[in-house]
Amino acid sequence: MTDTKKRTSVDKAAPVTVPGIQAMKGTRKICCITAYDYSSGIIADTAGMDLILVGDSLAMVVLGHEDTLSVTVDEMIHHIRATSRGAKRALVVGDMPFMSYCTVDRALETGRRFIAEGHARAVKLEGGAPVAPQIKALTEAGIPVMAHVGLTPQHIAKFGGFKAQGKSAEATKTLIKDAQAVEAAGAFCVVLEAIPVEAAELITEAVSIPTIGIGAGNVTDGQILVYHDTLGLFDRFTPKFVRRFAELGEAAGSALTRYCEDVRRGTFPGDKNTLYMPDDQLTQLRKIKIKHKKK
Ligand code: KIV
Repeated sequence: MTDTKKRTSVDKAAPVTVPGIQAMKGTRKICCITAYDYSSGIIADTAGMDLILVGDSLAMVVLGHEDTLSVTVDEMIHHIRATSRGAKRALVVGDMPFMSYCTVDRALETGRRFIAEGHARAVKLEGGAPVAPQIKALTEAGIPVMAHVGLTPQHIAKFGGFKAQGKSAEATKTLIKDAQAVEAAGAFCVVLEAIPVEAAELITEAVSIPTIGIGAGNVTDGQILVYHDTLGLFDRFTPKFVRRFAELGEAAGSALTRYCEDVRRGTFPGDKNTLYMPDDQLTQLRKIKIKHKKK
């Protein structure tokens, strides 16, 4: 499936670390993507991603839910573990699902499981100043935290849907305070989702940790996209800020249509896909008398 030579060179490259991500601010753009299993982990890693997020967006793009709210900690761990097996170089971050970090104790337990059972190397949680105590406790316990402000999909009930945030001067002031609060609490980077580019620029200047944008313009320290959106594998809706770099859904659909046609026509499997018995065994086989059951 993957070019073996490339895979080998990724295996040999030094793994990306949390300090490594932090050192990229102001030096070079940080490339991030979500992934959810072994094969997408390998593909993202081999492509050279710095950070792979096993996002709770898997609830929508992998499990088919309407939003991200119903994915469980156990389901997340199942996917984080598979992705970690595929990603050898990129920093794998596990996204803590809805209500799994609503108290400091719950955050510590979810974080412990993500690291110990899922083999994530960091966790992500949504929210600004209100989740600073959780970020502080996790960081002090040795679990690096990626924060997430702006459109935080776990709060869609409060926002009234998947709506852009920070569209006024006042709202931007609050976002800046949130980003500074998560930095002060120890977050090593912060996702800025669906906010105006002007707000993203001010936040990026106001904090010394990297900002990772999704729908925040070209001014953040890095970018992240959802794997299925980027590759044209999810059609329910495509936000304006997504660029589809491939149409793999279409390609997969037409490949499977051809497979069906070939099976129905009897042209698959062909000679190349067929196993044949060695000649000496075939001679033996032809001597065997088989009693056929009467119909
Ligand atoms: O769950 C997710 O995929 C995310 C990214 C969009 C940042 O949180």
